Amino acid sequence: MGSSKMIKLGFVGFGTVGQSTFIALERNLYQIKQQMGYELEVVSVAVKDLEKKRVVELSGVRLTDDPFEVVLDPNVDIVVELIGGTEIAHELVSAAIANGKHVVTANKALIANFGDEILLSAQNENILFRFEAAVAGSIPIIKALSESVRGNRIKAVVGIINGTCNFMLSEMAAKQVSFVSILSEAQRLGYAEADPSFDVMGTDAGHKLAILSAIAFGTEFQFEKIHVEGIQNVLPEDIAYAKGLGYQVKHLAIAVKTRNGLELRVHPALIPLDHILASVDGVVNAILVDGDLSGPLMFSGAGAGGDATASAVISDIIDVASVAHTGGTRFMAVRPEKLSDYPITAFTESVSGYYVRVEAKDRPGVLAEISRVLASFNVSIEAIHQKEAKEGASTTVPIIILTGRMAEKAIREVCEILASSDSITGSAICYKVEDFQWAT
Ligand SMILES: NC(=O)c1ccc[n+]([C@@H]2O[C@H](COP(=O)([O-])OP(=O)(O)OC[C@H]3O[C@@H](n4cnc5c(N)ncnc54)[C@H](OP(=O)(O)O)[C@@H]3O)[C@@H](O)[C@H]2O)c1
Repeated sequence: MGSSKMIKLGFVGFGTVGQSTFIALERNLYQIKQQMGYELEVVSVAVKDLEKKRVVELSGVRLTDDPFEVVLDPNVDIVVELIGGTEIAHELVSAAIANGKHVVTANKALIANFGDEILLSAQNENILFRFEAAVAGSIPIIKALSESVRGNRIKAVVGIINGTCNFMLSEMAAKQVSFVSILSEAQRLGYAEADPSFDVMGTDAGHKLAILSAIAFGTEFQFEKIHVEGIQNVLPEDIAYAKGLGYQVKHLAIAVKTRNGLELRVHPALIPLDHILASVDGVVNAILVDGDLSGPLMFSGAGAGGDATASAVISDIIDVASVAHTGGTRFMAVRPEKLSDYPITAFTESVSGYYVRVEAKDRPGVLAEISRVLASFNVSIEAIHQKEAKEGASTTVPIIILTGRMAEKAIREVCEILASSDSITGSAICYKVEDFQWAT
């Protein structure tokens, strides 16, 4: 990067995050110059559609529809990848690294799937590669995990890291309406994409968890080993029943170190109403990091949106520019040559309490039958409640059971046995109850 006082940026992708970053760089130009001692200038930008109307007027910037022109541009010091996805973005980032450019990206899918390969090639080429914006928007969680809690043994990282899911569950809880009706409201408000499957089925949170867990535990990026469930089957009545029992239903991303290895799982779960994560509502993201020295730390803030994501992108750009400029420590979020080899435990082995709801025929002996099934698995019943029959469905009554701690594979068997009983109609609905007690 030499001793020039101008650091030149090339953007590939100029959509929501790209344009917000550009505007924020202009708006905070003076402050950034004060902080860094030199200026940042966007010199080239690649988009897909040159004719598309932009919020930003680009003058004096080379605009192209060939992103490789930016990545190979000899004027560019730092490539800012804001296209997304794993195809072209992977090729572009690899080409940028091979061509000696530092890289900043917000692309969680890319890192969750190809993080090891990219970090290794960046390290081999002495390239700085930063991705703070890939997880939880403006929250500086990558930096916190990789710098601020170094020296801790991390016990667990638990996050509410998909704003769409959190908004929808919060609204379902507040208004007692179905997933489908809240989905259209979320789309109307711009909190859910036209195709929401990536968010509501848990993939987005899974990508982010792959990144958080790799950094917290020094493992490979292993998205394919994460158990991922979304919120599409959550019913408002279960949210209401859970609340009546003192719990909130949240979509959690959990990486926890147990005696047998790492549990990596994304799913809806019940958490106590007085837990700090229970009051994280709407599109807000929150991440709890539990270190052996630090104790529980909570990070929360805006998880998405142009400005929030630009905040993290710009911070990374300044970081890269400063390190490259001063020849400071080439700190990496993970050390690809020194990965730890914790085994990933199967989801079926994970242990927790459970919330189970069945629809039982309104006749004597059902509660005793359920108790017998659980006793045969040596599982205690923490609570069992028979609710009022639903209107118009008077032949069945909901029965809700909170179990003691047991393995997922055992609760699945319990649910199958219950569902096959003559006393019960339909299948059993089951969610983990997280008590945040890590058996490390
Ligand atoms: N939006 C958020 O709140 C948020 C939050 C955190 C992280 N992120 C991440 O940030 C990244 C960008 O997200 P975004 O919301 O800004 O996406 P976006 O609005 O869809 O923008 C994508 C940009 O990439 C350009 N593009 C697509 N294919 C291209 C190609 N082959 N060559 C050149 N340019 C191409 C598009 O060009 P056109 O404009 O011409 O179509 C567009 O400018 C993603 O990785 C996303 O996961 C986003």
